[in-house]
Amino acid sequence: MGMLIKGGEIVTAESRMRGDIFIEDETVSAIGSGLTVPKGTEVIDAAGKLIFPGFIDPHVHIHLPFMATFAKDTHAAASKAALIGGTTTFIEMCCPSRKDDALEGYHAWKQKAEGNSACDYAFHMAVTRYDAQTEAQLKEIVKDGTTSFKIFLSYKNFFGVDDEEMFQTLKLAAKLGVITTAHCENAELVGQLQQQLLAEGKTGAEWHEPSRPEAVEAEGTTRFATFVEQTGATGYVVHLSCAPALRAAVEAKVRGVNLHIESVLPHFLLDKSYAERAGVEGMKHIMSPPLRDKRNLPVLWNALKTGLIETVGTDHCPFDKEQKLLGAKAFTQIPNGIPGIEDRVNLMYTYGVKRGGLDIHRFVDALSTRAAKLFGLYPRKGTIAVGSDADLVVYDTKYRGTISAATQHGINDYNGFEGFAIEGRPAVVTVRGKVQARDGVFVGEQGRGRMIRREPQL
Ligand code: URP
Ligand code: ZN
Ligand code: ZN
Repeated sequence: MGMLIKGGEIVTAESRMRGDIFIEDETVSAIGSGLTVPKGTEVIDAAGKLIFPGFIDPHVHIHLPFMATFAKDTHAAASKAALIGGTTTFIEMCCPSRKDDALEGYHAWKQKAEGNSACDYAFHMAVTRYDAQTEAQLKEIVKDGTTSFKIFLSYKNFFGVDDEEMFQTLKLAAKLGVITTAHCENAELVGQLQQQLLAEGKTGAEWHEPSRPEAVEAEGTTRFATFVEQTGATGYVVHLSCAPALRAAVEAKVRGVNLHIESVLPHFLLDKSYAERAGVEGMKHIMSPPLRDKRNLPVLWNALKTGLIETVGTDHCPFDKEQKLLGAKAFTQIPNGIPGIEDRVNLMYTYGVKRGGLDIHRFVDALSTRAAKLFGLYPRKGTIAVGSDADLVVYDTKYRGTISAATQHGINDYNGFEGFAIEGRPAVVTVRGKVQARDGVFVGEQGRGRMIRREPQL
C-alpha cells in the first residue's frame, strides 16, 4: 500500500513548492498538487508544515573504542535518537586502532550496525596504519560499498598516521576514486604542548584548548591540503573549528585543490568557556579540535552561509559523566567527544534559519544534499525527487522546546546543549516510506536501517 504526504511545503536544496508526495515501494513515485492516489492509500496531512529530504549526518561515532574506554552508544539507541531529530542516514567512522586488523575491524563495525539501526547508514573507513596488506584490504572494503576513507593526523600511536602513511592513503584513494576525510591537527605539537602544560601543573579541562591551539589545526589543515594537492586526491576536512584553519582550507581551495570542508554542531553554538567550567561541567565539553574562542563562531556561520563550509555534521561521540571523570587529574585523559545526533537539525534550523539568516536551501544542502553528493548517496538520498528513497521529514516550525538530557532519547547522561531553546521539530520522519518517528517519539521498526552501498565518487 502506498502513502501520500499531502499539502506540505516541499523544500529541497534548490526549490520550494507546495504539493503532495506519493510513495510506493520505498521510493517517491510522484510529486505534484492534488495527486490522485489508489483507494486505501495512507494519507499524512502536512498542511502548514515543511517537508525536507531526510537529513544526513556525515560524521558520527557510535561504536568507538577510544581513550581507554568505549563511546557510550549503541546503533539501536543512536539511530532512534537520530530519527526523532530528523536524521534518516548517518555515516559512521569505522575506526579500528593502529594495532588492529583493518578488515577485521570493518566487519566488526558492520556487524554492530546490521539489524540494529533503525535508520540507514554507511561508513567512512579509517586508515590508521598503512602496511603491506592495506591496499588489498582497502580495495575489498571499497568493493563492499564503503567508498570513503578517514585519516587522523592527530591521536599519535592510536588512530594517527604519519606523513608517509597519509601520502600512501591519498595515492590509493586517488587511484580508487574515493574521497579521504581527515582530522587535521599536528600530533607532535599536541603531544609536546600537553606534556608542557601538565608539567606546569595545568591539569584541568580549561587547558585542553591551549594544548591544541588554532595554529595547530591550521598547520594540520595546510599539510593535509598540500598532500591532497600533490597526490591528485580529493580531501574533506572534518570538524573544522576556527578561522585560521578555515583560511588554510580556503587558500587551498582557491588554488584549485580538491578540498571540501565540514564543521560540526558544537563549533557553531558552543565556545571554549563551556570547557572552562569547573569540574565535570567543563569535561562534558571536551572534544578535538576543541571548542574555540567565541570570535570564531560568526566566522564559521558566515562561511556556512556562503558555502565555504559545505556540510554540517555532529561528530556525535558520547561519553558519560563517569567516563569524563577519567580525566579528573589530567585533561589529557578526558575522553574526547560531545553527543549531538538528535539535536543537529533542530539547533541548526533554530539558530541558523530562524534566528541567524541562513538560507533555508543552504540549510538543506549543508545538512543533507551536499553530503549525499560528496559521499555517493545522491540522488538516492539527499533530495526529494521521483525515484529517490522516500526518506522525508515533515517539519513542524511551530514547535517550541528546550534541549535537555532529561527528555533526550540518546543513552548518555548529559546533553552538551542543555537549556538551548529550539523553534521547530520533526512531526513525521519516514525511512524508505515507513514512518519511523512522530512528534519526538520513535514509532517505527528497530533494525529497519540498511547499509547503503556506494560506488566510488570520483
Ligand atoms: O573529540 C572528538 N572529536 N571525538 C571523536 C573522535 C574525533 O576526533 O573525531
Ligand atoms: Zn576527529
Ligand atoms: Zn569524529
